[in-house]
Amino acid sequence: MFQAAVKTFSASSGGGLTCIRHYCKKTARKLRVSEAVSGAGLGANVKVQGWVRSVRPQKANLFLHVNDGSSLQSLQIVASSELNNPSLTFGSAVEVTGTLKKSPHHKQPVELEAEQIRVVGECNPVDFPFKIKERHSLEYLRQFPHLRCRTNAFSSLLRIRSEATTAIHSYFKDNGFLQIHTPIITSNDCEGAGELFQVEPSGPDHDEDENFFSVPAFLTVSGQLHLEVMSGAFSKVYTFGPTFRAENSQSRRHLAEFYMVEAEVSFTQSLEDLTKVMEDMFRSATEHVLAHCVEDVDLFHKHVTPGHREIVDAMLKRKFPVITYSEAIDILKRSSEKFSFPTDWGCDLQTEHEKYLVKHCGNIPVFVTDYPFNLKPFYARDNQDHPEHTAAAVDLLVPGVGELCGGSLREERLDLLRVRLEEYLDLRRFGSVPHGGFGLGFERYLQCVLGVDNIKDVIPFPRSSHSCLL
Ligand code: 4AD
Repeated sequence: MFQAAVKTFSASSGGGLTCIRHYCKKTARKLRVSEAVSGAGLGANVKVQGWVRSVRPQKANLFLHVNDGSSLQSLQIVASSELNNPSLTFGSAVEVTGTLKKSPHHKQPVELEAEQIRVVGECNPVDFPFKIKERHSLEYLRQFPHLRCRTNAFSSLLRIRSEATTAIHSYFKDNGFLQIHTPIITSNDCEGAGELFQVEPSGPDHDEDENFFSVPAFLTVSGQLHLEVMSGAFSKVYTFGPTFRAENSQSRRHLAEFYMVEAEVSFTQSLEDLTKVMEDMFRSATEHVLAHCVEDVDLFHKHVTPGHREIVDAMLKRKFPVITYSEAIDILKRSSEKFSFPTDWGCDLQTEHEKYLVKHCGNIPVFVTDYPFNLKPFYARDNQDHPEHTAAAVDLLVPGVGELCGGSLREERLDLLRVRLEEYLDLRRFGSVPHGGFGLGFERYLQCVLGVDNIKDVIPFPRSSHSCLL
């Protein structure tokens, strides 16, 4: 590591070698807390930076716990009580230099014997809105979007979220998909549901009678249309980014800004081409997260949502069943449950129905296919069946959440589309092939794996109607 630093330094400054040697001698090796607690630098002189989780002054010694977000575990610091000072409080940012030693305590196999403790940023613990050792509800922590990242539960969530993002990208890369950066600002309403945020400049120079883009422009509700364009040149594409819906909903599974994973596959033959990708991606991402975030996932499954691990294990054990919408309606009709919404053929499945269907199928994810034609957007492929007219669309329903993914084969037949939507046509004129795709709500995925009830607790800064903190 130092070798590389010397090279870079001398290349850019010419003749800085003596200077850098001197620097190396004096500089302790910088370690993250996760590296330090794993025993990476035992015996070495190291520097650790982080935030104080606890201060325990004793007669001869001072004990601190320092966490830098790299791990659920904090590093124990042992210092002579002479190093104590009044600004060394809970929440303060510190830089500690010393030697990493084996600890005599079983719980903490490694500790840092401090030679120097520098307070980089002070914190008044009296003003801090929660006690780090106490277990506060996720709902309470939600009021403090600038501080909840300092709690064990939320920092675990953020590490899991980051790892799940990596896992999803890896799945697509390993399976030959090309990542497309679909635009955030768009002039189309892909879903046609009218839940759009319009985009215009807000400055004084802006002419209110004229659109900045000359046409009305919106924050994207889905990258599907742009992926479909790309699927005319690449047979497998995906995108993973923020999407926006002006839904006036306060539900536990809707946000105004959420992240969506969307894939589009060309040369499809049946819905199975899509359900395979959805199921494989779900499994591969979940197995990755369970294997790479053991402590963080355990924290959720043991303390935040006890009992949820068994549900996740059961989800991964069996192949996801596939039922048609008509079969789903039969199941609902035969049930003794009293539903608030009707269960007649042609009615949309509501969350209560989705949750019932998941339970009925063994509390594992279940695909529902072939929805009534009139329930699905204009782009869904017409099955041309009757008397029950359906579209080749599929939803993946999962335990605790309901709908996680929505997708369909796309209507590529020009004559059928012509009657449905004029402006969609140009995409189908130049070598159109059968294709299909789906979107997965990333926050709902995290809710499903971790058992978290409210979608606002799995995104760093939730946005919903009447709420945009920070
Ligand atoms: O079912 P949706 O609306 O599908 C589409 O947008 C398609 N254009 C995707 C495609 O085929 N490329 O949304 C897909 C998923 C839903 O199943 C749900 O998990 C999530 O996105 N979702 C939301 N998540 C949080 N808050 C909202 N307001 C959501 N709306 C949809």
